[in-house]
Amino acid sequence: MPMAASGTGKRHAESEALLRRGEAVIAGGVVSLNRKVEPGIAFVRARGSRIWDADGFEYIDYHAAFAPHLLGHNDPEVNGAVVQAMEDGWSLMGSGTTPWEVRLAELLHEAVPSLEKLQLTNSGSEATAHAIRLSRAWTGREDVLLMLGGYNGWHNDVARTVMPSLAEIGPRVSPGEYRFLPLSAGIPEGVRQRLHVVNFNDAASVEDVLRRHPIACVLMEPVLQNVGVMPPRPGYLQEVRRLCTRYGATLVFDEVKTGFRSALGGYQSIAGVAPDLSVFGKAVANGYPLGVIGGRAEIMNLFDAKESARRVLIAGTYNGHPMTVAAAIATLERLGRDDGEIYRTLEARGARLQAGLEALYHEKGWTAVVSRIGSAFCTYFSDHVPVDWHDLAASHDSDLDRRYRRELINAGIYHFPLPAKQGSISAAHTEDDIDRTLEMTREAMSRV
Ligand SMILES: Cc1ncc(COP(=O)(O)O)c(C=O)c1O
Repeated sequence: MPMAASGTGKRHAESEALLRRGEAVIAGGVVSLNRKVEPGIAFVRARGSRIWDADGFEYIDYHAAFAPHLLGHNDPEVNGAVVQAMEDGWSLMGSGTTPWEVRLAELLHEAVPSLEKLQLTNSGSEATAHAIRLSRAWTGREDVLLMLGGYNGWHNDVARTVMPSLAEIGPRVSPGEYRFLPLSAGIPEGVRQRLHVVNFNDAASVEDVLRRHPIACVLMEPVLQNVGVMPPRPGYLQEVRRLCTRYGATLVFDEVKTGFRSALGGYQSIAGVAPDLSVFGKAVANGYPLGVIGGRAEIMNLFDAKESARRVLIAGTYNGHPMTVAAAIATLERLGRDDGEIYRTLEARGARLQAGLEALYHEKGWTAVVSRIGSAFCTYFSDHVPVDWHDLAASHDSDLDRRYRRELINAGIYHFPLPAKQGSISAAHTEDDIDRTLEMTREAMSRV
């Protein structure tokens, strides 16, 4: 290792040349600027657990493009379903329903019973935007409660700084709330005033905000997976559920990251908590662009309310696109096969990686702990798994994390090179991949 296929001269020469070409015509040089990181590697090919860069280097991939590839890259069965759909004449019809969208809706409803009714979008962000608008229409209220350290997409109502410094956010307040720190310019002040932010795992603050403001919905990831893998404390989700019911707010679970990765029924099936609305994306179509918004029929039926003043708009030229729908049908059928055997495999691989990493950290005398739910994992360079953003910001050694990720990449293990970013195992990661990962991690650690 590293697993160089070619790669003579400067290691990222081809990637850098491509970035320079892109800079002439793409704003920022990279499409979707959260992907602009150091090292700036351009990837050109992927299969299963592996990705290859423009300079010919091969990596075992744990970034998984921010987590959708639960079955691995270019899964032959999913790709086969997409090709078959084209050969069978599936196309974007744009009028009336199609057999494939009905089939997918049935599969989703079967997997996640709280999705009494649902609609399809092209992304997780579109789905969270719909969840907020639906909640506002349903409750007649305008305010939204979000979690510090959560991410729910790029639109005005949710685009807040995911990882603010403690200086920016101020000390922990409970019960209480934090300022909405926009992640983007161009968000109107009037919108910001409708948005409230509290710490995760702090039900007292949820109640405090619900009591003081007209909250339409609590929109939350049931596990914070944009700051590693930060699980809910026992009883926390149940308490938030109870509070939403008591104060008349809609509870929306953003399962874009947890859904289908933690279980076929989403994290809600593990927690045993039924939200009013849920949002899915990413793993549902194993890398093809699909989002889902669904939940209680009486709320979802607002999309088709007879009275026009109550009707909530949902429209999109590409919603229910046949290629992404074919991919999602194939993915869900595969995930449900043999009584969810794939989740047992993912759990076994995850446990092997976790045990191996923890043994390496111990051997080296590093203070580190692996937080993991099935195939989603993150190393916190701390003596405990953090319970909220303040805890993470105060205890995690971000500098060590950066250097560790950098050396892993040099060794041929690809993790997104920012601290506390979730790692994702896929069903294509073999035991041998895990063992090689551990060997290469040992080597990388010796250079950190
Ligand atoms: C929890 C969560 N919600 C929503 C989104 C937005 O999804 P998309 O990028 O498909 O718009 C993301 C994306 O990372 C996410 O992690």
